[in-house]
Amino acid sequence: MRHDIRLDDRIISYLESAPLGPVPSRVLVFLHAFPLNAAMWEAQIAAGLPSWRFLAPDLRGFGESTHHGNPDRDSADLDGGGAGPQTRVAEISIDDYADDVVVLLDSLRIERAVVAGLSMGGYAALALVRRAPDRVAGLSLCDTKAEADGEEARGARAGMIRLLDEQGVPAVADQMMPRLLAERTRSTRPDIEQRVRRIMLANQPGGVRDGLVRMMRRPDSARLLRGLTCPALVIVGDEDRTTPPEVARTMQQHIAGAELATIAQAGHLSNVEQPDRFNDALFGFLRNRLGG
Ligand code: MLT
Repeated sequence: MRHDIRLDDRIISYLESAPLGPVPSRVLVFLHAFPLNAAMWEAQIAAGLPSWRFLAPDLRGFGESTHHGNPDRDSADLDGGGAGPQTRVAEISIDDYADDVVVLLDSLRIERAVVAGLSMGGYAALALVRRAPDRVAGLSLCDTKAEADGEEARGARAGMIRLLDEQGVPAVADQMMPRLLAERTRSTRPDIEQRVRRIMLANQPGGVRDGLVRMMRRPDSARLLRGLTCPALVIVGDEDRTTPPEVARTMQQHIAGAELATIAQAGHLSNVEQPDRFNDALFGFLRNRLGG
């Protein structure tokens, strides 16, 4: 089911699982990858888990969540020159995504939730831990990393912004696809590739552009991992070449008591490529470590 939270200046749109049995007492928030939206969590939302309420927001500017009150406003500009009056580039950061999760939780009167973030969603989950640690009951970092972008990665993002401005979201989708799906998935499951492309093409260029700016200026969160005290699960596709298994293992080693689940025959979008294996890993963690 889709719902909207209407704020004064924008909308936060989210998917929610149908309750299975009695009123769920626990909440899990899924945060999506770039340049996708909440639809990438459909297999998890549809599966559901008794006593759990699953929420998957479209992050600001993606899917049906708007990024500003004025639909005619330009997205943020890298040098600040083209940004509209309401959100200058100096103001946008990965924290916006984290703050919107807090708004979502407040609006639904939810005190604490487990957060599962994949790739960019993991960056947002770590921003949430930094900004509102009391709201995070548990964490699943999926196909993501804690380090900030280096110079080369920032240069590549600037190149992608130029590509987006010149050729639009379809060109970004083409460039991202090999980073998102394993070779094996692309050659054996064209339906998955088509679905991922459809999800990407449903996004507006402004939100995609702001996402790139937010990612390229996100802070390093490596030290944050060592201070984590909530139950944590790191998940990675064994064929993920964007944030490979070694990166996941290092993250797990830096978080006290964290578990690691490696999803066989999956690339970067492990929850989309192998939903059953992904759900087994995540739901097992919820049952065993979070009393669900
Ligand atoms: C993602 O899947 O969200 C992106 O690969 C993240 C990134 O580009 O750093």
